Amino acid sequence: MIVAIDGPAASGKGTIAKKLAEYFNLSYLDTGVLYRAVALQMLTKGMNEKDSQSAEKVARQVSIASIDHTGIRTRAVSDLASKIAAIPGVRQELLTRQRRFAQNPDPGKDGAVLDGRDIGTVVCPHADFKIFIIADLEIRAKRRWKELLQSDPTVIYCEVLEEMRSRDERDTNRKDAPLAVTLGALVIDTSNKSIDVSFNEAKNWILSRRF
Ligand code: CDP
Repeated sequence: MIVAIDGPAASGKGTIAKKLAEYFNLSYLDTGVLYRAVALQMLTKGMNEKDSQSAEKVARQVSIASIDHTGIRTRAVSDLASKIAAIPGVRQELLTRQRRFAQNPDPGKDGAVLDGRDIGTVVCPHADFKIFIIADLEIRAKRRWKELLQSDPTVIYCEVLEEMRSRDERDTNRKDAPLAVTLGALVIDTSNKSIDVSFNEAKNWILSRRF
């Protein structure tokens, strides 16, 4: 069974995906990590999004199994990740890896759950279940701000809000694989819901359609 989960930043999709993976015994892939890994390497090498050929080259070398998660959650990485995610060659490189993951879950697992922006539309258009997680921009920005405060007490809420607004806009308006709800997806608005309530909604929807 393949579950595709999409949605904007800090909507809660990762947490819900992880809980679904545990409940249904599925392998889990946070696909944003791939884009972040490319962005981090580019930042380290002093490259920017204008250098699309180098971005593609870096993407070609990414291997899901060996991604180092250290330093990939910074604001600079988030920003560059969403810029290089608009480069078709980068997306193409990462697409093959994501599809391979979805089609080859770890031994003993009953399938895979992937979360990102284009899982239900492009990566796994034939997924058994598609879920789209949304939440108000201000609420998502507040969630992300609180996360970032843990490692940097000087982070300013308004800046996080503006960065998230720009990222939403780029992810939604790019030509290649934009963030979009796909037909037949369950839409969950987590703005005023706890993780448990949102997770149960997703879980019960899958259970009610499973056989
Ligand atoms: O964790 P957060 O929701 O903030 O972002 P993420 O899922 O780690 O994704 C970082 C960036 O990668 C996004 O802003 C997208 O531009 C890009 N991305 C994408 O284009 N397609 C995906 N399937 C996953 C991420």
